[in-house]
Amino acid sequence: MNSPQAMICSSSSSRISFLFYGVVIICLTSATVSASYGGNETDYHALLSFKSKIIHDPYKVLSTWNHSFHFCDWIGITCGKRHKRVTVLRLYSKGLEGSMSPHVGNLSFLRKLSLVNNSFQGSIPHELGRLSRLRRLYLNDNKFSGVIPTNLSGCSNLEELQLGGNKLVGSIPKEISLLRKLSHLVIQDNNLTGGIPPFLGNITSMEMFSARWNPFGGSIPDTLGLWKSLRVFYCSGCNLYGSIPHSIFNLSLLVNFSLPGNHLTGSLPSEIGNQLPYLEFLQLRDNELTGVLPPSLSNCSKLGYIEMSNNSFSGKLTIDFSKLRDIYLLRLQYNNFHERGEADDFRFVDSLKNCTRLVWLELENCNLIGVLPISIGNLSDQLTFLSLAENQLFGSLPSSIGSLVGLTTLYLHSNRFKGKIPTTIGKLQKLQFLELHSNQFSRPIPEAIMNLTMLIDLYLDYNKLKVIIHQGHGNCKTRLIALKNLACNVQK
Ligand SMILES: *[C@@H]1O[C@H](CO)[C@@H](O)[C@H](O)[C@H]1NC(C)=O
Ligand SMILES: *[C@@H]1O[C@H](CO)[C@@H](O)[C@H](O)[C@H]1NC(C)=O
Ligand SMILES: *[C@@H]1O[C@H](CO)[C@@H](O)[C@H](O)[C@H]1NC(C)=O
Ligand SMILES: *[C@@H]1O[C@H](CO)[C@@H](O)[C@H](O)[C@H]1NC(C)=O
Ligand SMILES: *[C@@H]1O[C@H](CO)[C@@H](O)[C@H](O)[C@H]1NC(C)=O
Ligand SMILES: *[C@@H]1O[C@H](CO)[C@@H](O)[C@H](O)[C@H]1NC(C)=O
Ligand SMILES: *[C@@H]1O[C@H](CO)[C@@H](O)[C@H](O)[C@H]1NC(C)=O
Ligand SMILES: *[C@@H]1O[C@H](CO)[C@@H](O)[C@H](O)[C@H]1NC(C)=O
Ligand SMILES: *[C@@H]1O[C@H](CO)[C@@H](O)[C@H](O)[C@H]1NC(C)=O
Ligand SMILES: *[C@@H]1O[C@H](CO)[C@@H](O)[C@H](O)[C@H]1NC(C)=O
Ligand SMILES: *[C@@H]1O[C@H](CO)[C@@H](O)[C@H](O)[C@H]1NC(C)=O
Ligand SMILES: *[C@@H]1O[C@H](CO)[C@@H](O)[C@H](O)[C@H]1NC(C)=O
Repeated sequence: MNSPQAMICSSSSSRISFLFYGVVIICLTSATVSASYGGNETDYHALLSFKSKIIHDPYKVLSTWNHSFHFCDWIGITCGKRHKRVTVLRLYSKGLEGSMSPHVGNLSFLRKLSLVNNSFQGSIPHELGRLSRLRRLYLNDNKFSGVIPTNLSGCSNLEELQLGGNKLVGSIPKEISLLRKLSHLVIQDNNLTGGIPPFLGNITSMEMFSARWNPFGGSIPDTLGLWKSLRVFYCSGCNLYGSIPHSIFNLSLLVNFSLPGNHLTGSLPSEIGNQLPYLEFLQLRDNELTGVLPPSLSNCSKLGYIEMSNNSFSGKLTIDFSKLRDIYLLRLQYNNFHERGEADDFRFVDSLKNCTRLVWLELENCNLIGVLPISIGNLSDQLTFLSLAENQLFGSLPSSIGSLVGLTTLYLHSNRFKGKIPTTIGKLQKLQFLELHSNQFSRPIPEAIMNLTMLIDLYLDYNKLKVIIHQGHGNCKTRLIALKNLACNVQK
């Protein structure tokens, strides 16, 4: 077989020279006799070992890993220009199945190793800890099992460690805190336990921590307040208890803050909005948080996404939404925003008119009592989803509702609306889901509803409606579901 030496030399001139094998040999013997192949020969063997552990290669990407080419020209390999040592091994989404050879730990010049979205299984070899030049290790979305090797602490230059979407178990090893340059730790979607350890706070270079969907347990350690550079914090579904330490709200560069689906208790600090001026994405839904939604959130002028639903927030909604011009999603449902003694809980609607990017407004089951203001019609023309269901709205439904022509979903059911359903409802030509049931709307049902040709679900039952719908008129083709008092073809 061809020797690695021959191969190496062929590349240093050109691939065609390989055809003249004799010439290559001459080249070797005359020019590089004293060469030490130590490094690049090791790389070559390490790559062959890597290949030998691949048991399935559906796209035949490793077929180029043969003697026709210098290994620096193999698919997925990048070498340093001068020293011809492997600096990048990158094979993502190649459908590769197999295990990772421990010989990869011999690619001592490696700076980036990316095997994202394949089917590597078995454990992550602890030999990787020898890669002291490694800056980026991306093994996301594979089938790696076992623990996070403690030896990774040997990768002292590691900046990004991404192991998400595997089957890793055990706890985050203490040695990880020795990685003083680590800025991205992505370990989401594994089976990691043992809590979020306090020693992680020692990695003060941390910018992104994504640990969601692991059964960690425990509470959020106070020491994470040392992550002064943190921009992204994702810990949904981590089985976390206790309150969010106030030190977290000191991380003034935070952009995305997401902790839904835990068991967090306690309230938000009143100054949250002034402490986190760059916040764009705030997601705390499905916890047990209490207290008011701090009005200081009005000062987070970059906020686009607020999801605080399914908590026990209470007190009047006093956020001045007019300052949140970039907001596109607001989900606050299943809280209690009724202020005792307050005659009308819906004044905040006025302040939403400046939110011209609002797409989604969800406020069902918030114990809001009052009259829906005419200004509801001033909401963004981008709005596609509006739910005010299961509150205590009384009075009539303003005809300005017909201005929200982008709506595909309108849920106003289970309130105390009276009077007629405004005919302007017929202007909502994109409506697919309309639920007005369990109110006190009186007849007649506007024929305009029959003009809503996109309707999939229509619920009008439990009202004081008498049905007058003409056969063949409108959209009885669409599924009209759960119409206890309303049926198509009633009057033939
Ligand atoms: C292999 O490594 C040796 C020693 O580092 C070097 O002299 C030689 O040029 C390298 N050859 C190739 C083809 O990279
Ligand atoms: C090496 O791979 C290339 C590309 O797949 C192929 O054309 C060539 O025949 C292979 N050479 C050997 C020696 O297997
Ligand atoms: C993962 O890789 C497969 C090919 O094996 C590809 O079809 C799929 O789109 C990739 N998924 C992602 C999210 O890139
Ligand atoms: C490379 O790594 C393997 C496994 O870690 C080891 O057995 C081997 O001796 C190393 N050195 C070389 C030059 O291949
Ligand atoms: C793991 O790290 C320890 C300490 O740094 C070292 O002694 C050991 O050789 C490493 N193991 C491997 C397989 O690299
Ligand atoms: C996680 O680990 C537990 C117990 O160790 C096991 O029952 C469960 O199936 C694992 N889940 C996944 C997604 O691997
Ligand atoms: C964290 O860093 C401090 C100060 O450098 C040190 O005293 C402490 O032992 C470290 N903790 C851990 C768990 O590494
Ligand atoms: C927040 O930061 C300030 C100034 O760095 C510090 O004095 C204060 O103790 C910190 N608060 C918390 C709760 O960590
Ligand atoms: C924050 O989250 C949003 C929405 O998921 C995303 O588009 C954005 O890139 C994230 N920002 C950062 C800094 O990761
Ligand atoms: C918003 O910021 C301004 C200016 O910093 C400050 O005066 C005001 O008190 C803040 N509002 C709230 C509700 O915290
Ligand atoms: C809301 O919009 C109106 C009209 O565009 C503008 O005059 C007003 O200053 C805006 N309010 C805020 C707080 O930005
Ligand atoms: C229904 O739509 C047609 C055509 O767009 C329009 O002429 C008619 O006035 C509408 N009827 C009602 C009741 O809105």
